[in-house]
Amino acid sequence: MAIRLGDTAPDFTAETTEGPIEFLRWKGTGWAVLFSHPKDFTPVCTTELGAVAKLKPEFDKRNTKVIGLSVDPLDSHQRWAGDIKDVTGYALNFPLIADPGQAVAKLYDMIHPNASDTATVRSVFIVGPDNKIKLTLTYPASTGRNFQELLRVIDSLQLTAGHSVATPADWKAGEDVIIVPAVSDADAQKKFPRGFVAKKPYLRVTPSPLAGEPAGVK
Ligand code: BEZ
Repeated sequence: MAIRLGDTAPDFTAETTEGPIEFLRWKGTGWAVLFSHPKDFTPVCTTELGAVAKLKPEFDKRNTKVIGLSVDPLDSHQRWAGDIKDVTGYALNFPLIADPGQAVAKLYDMIHPNASDTATVRSVFIVGPDNKIKLTLTYPASTGRNFQELLRVIDSLQLTAGHSVATPADWKAGEDVIIVPAVSDADAQKKFPRGFVAKKPYLRVTPSPLAGEPAGVK
């Protein structure tokens, strides 16, 4: 079954490089990024895991835990961890799920048989404090992901969860935002005391309610 936006994130128990976890208990009341990679000891995956380890402090600032998964066993993950540090300069600092039985991969529909019968694709699920799925992404094995983009999405998700705004194309934290159409002009004047510019009646732009604050204060 495909997992869709707004679904409750399916819970699971799994072995990881940081010990056994129950996923939703491990996630707690904050946010989480669950991402799969196809296989251990492969080049793109090695660069991806180093990239996530480097960005871990940025995920932490956003009250967001990260956890990777592949269908290789724990001892393989542990041996591969040394290569990730050698190649990228960053040691694994987040758990990697060992899913050799494919239980979690199947639960999250991470195996796409027309891509590979055995390896997971590059899936991403962002889960919110309410345990609901806030974002899904699927990349092929040949294309490494842009993890800065995940931070950007988390900034948008956290901002838009707390204010009646949406974020435009290519938005970055601190930039102007869009007032959602459900808010009338009269209410917008009260909610957004810094005012707004109506580029069209349905496209009203206002300074970010968090402008001037560092990302990750949610
Ligand atoms: C990689 O991570 O480099 C990779 C994994 C599976 C297929 C192709 C590339």
